[in-house]
Amino acid sequence: MKRIKIKELLSTEDFDREVLVKGWVRTRRGNKNISFIALNDGSVIHNIQVVVDLAVFDESILKLITTGSCIAVSGTLVKSMGQGQTSEIQAKEITLYGTADAETYPLQKKGHTLEFLREIAHLRPRTNTFGAVLRIRHALAFAIHKYFNNKGFVYLHTPIITGSDCEGAGEMFRVSTLDPVHPPLNEDGKINYSEDFFGKETNLTVSGQLEGELGAMALSEIYTFGPTFRAENSNTPRHLAEFWMIEPEMAFYEIIDNMDLAEDFLKYLVTYALENCKEDLEFLNNMYDKELLKNLNFVVSNKFERKTYSEAIDILEKSGQKFEFPVKWGADLQSEHERYLVEKHFKKPVILRDYPKEIKAFYMKQNPDGKTVAAMDILFPRIGEIVGGSQREENFDKLKKRIEELNLPQKDLWWYLDTRRFGTAPHSGFGLGFERLVLFVTGMSNIRDVIPFPRTPKNAEF
Ligand code: 4AD
Ligand code: MG
Repeated sequence: MKRIKIKELLSTEDFDREVLVKGWVRTRRGNKNISFIALNDGSVIHNIQVVVDLAVFDESILKLITTGSCIAVSGTLVKSMGQGQTSEIQAKEITLYGTADAETYPLQKKGHTLEFLREIAHLRPRTNTFGAVLRIRHALAFAIHKYFNNKGFVYLHTPIITGSDCEGAGEMFRVSTLDPVHPPLNEDGKINYSEDFFGKETNLTVSGQLEGELGAMALSEIYTFGPTFRAENSNTPRHLAEFWMIEPEMAFYEIIDNMDLAEDFLKYLVTYALENCKEDLEFLNNMYDKELLKNLNFVVSNKFERKTYSEAIDILEKSGQKFEFPVKWGADLQSEHERYLVEKHFKKPVILRDYPKEIKAFYMKQNPDGKTVAAMDILFPRIGEIVGGSQREENFDKLKKRIEELNLPQKDLWWYLDTRRFGTAPHSGFGLGFERLVLFVTGMSNIRDVIPFPRTPKNAEF
């Protein structure tokens, strides 16, 4: 008999037939005559109930079917008389694949804290919460490809190991095969990277953007979706050292087109989750955040507020609010400032643009005022910055001058500058932090709980 997933069984009305299910036991309860097994296979948040008649089954086998054990059950699918479920299986045959000792199985009891579950990241996908989060994460990843595919964007695979460290997005993780104790040295005592694997210094990428721009200058509209790495010591609920980023890059888009695309994209993704992850979202809404569904619906049905950085500074200065970090034109907005604007002032997502050039990357398009660049950040309730992007400086001379002003290693950027030498074009792009999106959509409060195996300072166990 072919195995049927529990999701399919729970949605069918085709009763009184023989079925085969396989999964992990969530609970087993009952009395001397009958036993009820709640079985879950990860296909859906709900369990299927397996009814075991003890007159037919040997008690010694049943004793081994404890929480966490893995079984296969064949039996008759019947309409359930019990509350809260439509169907159940009357067991005819049970195969025990793997036991889970009740004394040592960490998920024996319910109600563990999220902090504890982080310590058993290898088992936490078996909880309702992580099952729901991981299914939503999957649905969002699928929706991202669907969205761009529908629009004719090309999925460009940019490198994970990079020889350039010019993005300036944060500290990088070095990639090397040199002997860490006795590396080859130059006469000046510095490490001789010409003997390293790639013959030069290499790192894990902080962003696929620069290579993404090369793709956009040929394919018009591309996107990347891959892991990025930042070795910054940010121990916050919104930072990971390894996170996934979606970076579309579009030729012939100016800053407003870029903002329009980002807003439409975010609304599409949230709508997709609302339509396709209903049961998981309802579960998270009930368990963690009673406002979750309301907030998600609010985001899709309201236009994002659009303001300049300078207008935002003005609002913050006049707010009368006490901030830990002072508000000053020219300084980067802190999370507390972003959240004040979104949660208290506008009470909706905000797109800020035209940031001071000193706090933004070298490649952003310089505005005529000489002080600001055509950057845009999207700020979300509970999250702060979820998207960061800009129109890019397409003028060779201006870009070269900026690289020189910032003392960036120009010789490493020759290939990037070539796009401005040969057939340059106005273009724009942005980066969406995938985990920040999942954080927003699931209503979880810590980014460590929306990626299967989080990488944070001093933590890379699993
Ligand atoms: O603002 P960032 O640093 O922008 C870039 O990397 C550009 N190259 C993007 C582009 O224009 N193509 O990062 C973009 C987004 C942020 O808005 C945030 O959502 C997320 O990536 N992000 C992080 N997410 C988790 N952990 C971290 N340490 C993150 N740093 C940035
Ligand atoms: Mg940013």
